[in-house]
Amino acid sequence: MQAAAEKIVRLGAEAIEENEIFTVALSGGSTPRPLYVLLATGMFAKPFDWSRVHLFWGDERCVPPGDPRSNYRMVREALLDAVPIPPPNIHRIRGEEDPKVAAAAYERELRAFFGSNGADGPPRMGFDLVLLGLGDNGHTASLFPELPAATEQVRWVMAQFVEVVSMWRITLTPVVINAAKNVAFVVSGSEKAQRLRDVLEGPFQPELLPAQMIKPAHGRLLWLVDDAAAGRLKRVR
Ligand code: 6PG
Repeated sequence: MQAAAEKIVRLGAEAIEENEIFTVALSGGSTPRPLYVLLATGMFAKPFDWSRVHLFWGDERCVPPGDPRSNYRMVREALLDAVPIPPPNIHRIRGEEDPKVAAAAYERELRAFFGSNGADGPPRMGFDLVLLGLGDNGHTASLFPELPAATEQVRWVMAQFVEVVSMWRITLTPVVINAAKNVAFVVSGSEKAQRLRDVLEGPFQPELLPAQMIKPAHGRLLWLVDDAAAGRLKRVR
């Protein structure tokens, strides 16, 4: 997490130096929580001029923002309540609304913010950083195996009912993620080791392993992985 926090601070400083803002799509789930707490604490909070940081979410559970399952709530508790980021810079996915309405609104917000190469094109300017986790079934964001969002070629945001978690989810699609300047998976724990090996060293089967759809067109792909999660990899870079 320390290494991930240092990497994020460096990427943020680069982005702010270059474009005066740092745009990040945050991952949900449990893995990144300590990372967000680190970013909010003293040694990291200072280098950031938080007024230049724009936070988005890579996905959201369709629950109210105060619900314990909400990715927004997790980030609010771990980070937002501790740093002076201006409210307009917090681009929350409205999990409390009708999923399809909220997904369309989020896509409009992204298109307005990043600009697009025509109605069917990817963002003209991608996120500076998209943080992702890896689910134990190979999903990432809310791109789940055998669901259409994982192989979507046009839409930037989709709402889907996800059987395996029995809830509606809203997610960025690979169209937006692969337009990012940097995409960083943060993966921790031995329970992820086999899946990480499947994704990185197994056959290419993105329908079953949506994390394999993540290949930035021009940006960098980073895997920030602890020893336990890397335990089954044949080749550790
Ligand atoms: C979510 C995340 C999801 C997560 C993986 C890993 O909304 O849950 O976006 O993609 O990153 O499921 O979750 P853990 O970090 O809790 O193992």
